[in-house]
Amino acid sequence: MKIAVVGAGYVGLVTATCLAELGNDVVCVDRDHGRVTVLQAGGVPIYEPGLDDWLRRNLDAGRLHFSTQIASAVQAAELIFIAVGTPPQEDGSADLQHVLAVADQIGRHMNGFKVVINKSTVPVGTADRVARVLRERLAECGNSDTRFAVVSNPEFLKEGAAIDDFMRPDRIVIGLPPGEDGQQARTLLQRLYAPFNRHHERTLWMDTASAELTKYAANAMLATRISFMNDVARLADALGADVDAVRRGIGSDSRIGHSFLYAGTGYGGSCFPKDTRALVHSASLHGLRMRVVEATEEVNHQQKDLLARRLVDRLGADLRGRRIGLWGLAFKPNTDDMRDAPSRSIVAALLARGAEVRAHDPVAMAEARRAISADRAAAGQPAAFHSPKEACVQRVPGSLALVDSPLAAVADADALLVVTEWKCFHNPDWARVASAMRQPLVFDGRNLYEPALMDELGIEYHGIGRRGGVRLIDVGTGVDRRPLPV
Ligand SMILES: NC(=O)c1ccc[n+]([C@@H]2O[C@H](COP(=O)([O-])OP(=O)(O)OC[C@H]3O[C@@H](n4cnc5c(N)ncnc54)[C@H](O)[C@@H]3O)[C@@H](O)[C@H]2O)c1
Repeated sequence: MKIAVVGAGYVGLVTATCLAELGNDVVCVDRDHGRVTVLQAGGVPIYEPGLDDWLRRNLDAGRLHFSTQIASAVQAAELIFIAVGTPPQEDGSADLQHVLAVADQIGRHMNGFKVVINKSTVPVGTADRVARVLRERLAECGNSDTRFAVVSNPEFLKEGAAIDDFMRPDRIVIGLPPGEDGQQARTLLQRLYAPFNRHHERTLWMDTASAELTKYAANAMLATRISFMNDVARLADALGADVDAVRRGIGSDSRIGHSFLYAGTGYGGSCFPKDTRALVHSASLHGLRMRVVEATEEVNHQQKDLLARRLVDRLGADLRGRRIGLWGLAFKPNTDDMRDAPSRSIVAALLARGAEVRAHDPVAMAEARRAISADRAAAGQPAAFHSPKEACVQRVPGSLALVDSPLAAVADADALLVVTEWKCFHNPDWARVASAMRQPLVFDGRNLYEPALMDELGIEYHGIGRRGGVRLIDVGTGVDRRPLPV
């Protein structure tokens, strides 16, 4: 089939590459010339395991093309995917300017029946808005007779496992508009997604509003499970229980399941934080409150700098002269995505207290440099980066060095904070780590290590919600709401 995918980010690139892999003829369009040039040469501007091989294979086979020219891509395609960003606005609502700008362009260049498929995460009603823009542009161009269907087909892939998720989806949610155009779209989409339905039918057909809401509800549910466990972890700390034992205990109930029950430094990334906020905002427009989702957000907000608070509780509020090692910067393993990563809050809190931070991430260092520089600039603060060499020679308070190994991050450190659960951090050589540190003090933001083992190794260990953690809970309320001492 002839397909255009607009947006060459995490979702657009994976969608375009995977659909090309299935034999379709795909043009992926992005307005970012630099990005398109890299892609045309077979480079991949994001880190997504396996994507580089798949992309090059399909580029070489002539099934996948990259372009900045939306007009020719729209004219050639029968199916047009919109996969551009929908970042949060100040009030929490999803910013639809990119989606609507793409709709505007599609409307100007449509030359026959097209199915326009929204893959971006968008609030309920967006399919109708896109349809309205298309109708207006078609009318302006004297093409009012041109038919189309705007379909909602939200994406559920996980960064880090995106190819597998796309190629082996749990379900394919498709919201159709009513009428004949919707039915024509259904026929085309049945053909497109037939390879995914060979084993069993995975497609769930519904109306566009339900499909749009399904995406937000799914992300809110997953985020809620995480915040729920973070709440349980606080209580476990207060009561002397081990949240990891509790996790296994409840996860083995088949009604609950094991996924997304890990206590830690909170969720981040490009989806959960913005999508929960957008859902709360959508409800507010209808005079409703999503109280569970609001609580989920509140817990997550507190959780993001929990590690920094615990460090301050242990070492004092003045961290000048303290060297702190950080393992992991990306919001989760197997991605370089730094959007809303908890590491950003943690780094900001440590630098504000004068700590000298040395961080290592196997993949996300370039993105981290960009994101943290942007945070500092937005807060009117000077850049904090020092080269690892400089940082070795002299201790620079309030400075951040990105170093090229986990061991370099802990050299002469007063504490280690584990922020992202990359595989390479699971089984470190603790003897070397402990002897490299000034003192063997570990704050494990992902509960990767066994407290008993750390005890045996002579390492002072603080997990999240694990026995032996520093007690920070106000036993009266059961909640840790103390602001960070400045
Ligand atoms: N990243 C994920 O894991 C994920 C998963 C599911 C759904 N989503 C949703 O998918 C959408 C895209 O997310 P992403 O992470 O791929 O975004 P992204 O920021 O990585 O990529 C968006 C791309 O769109 C391009 N773009 C913006 N406006 C354009 C225009 N007018 N014409 C052409 N290109 C344009 C940008 O240059 C950028 O390359 C969002 O709505 C997001 O919520 C993301």
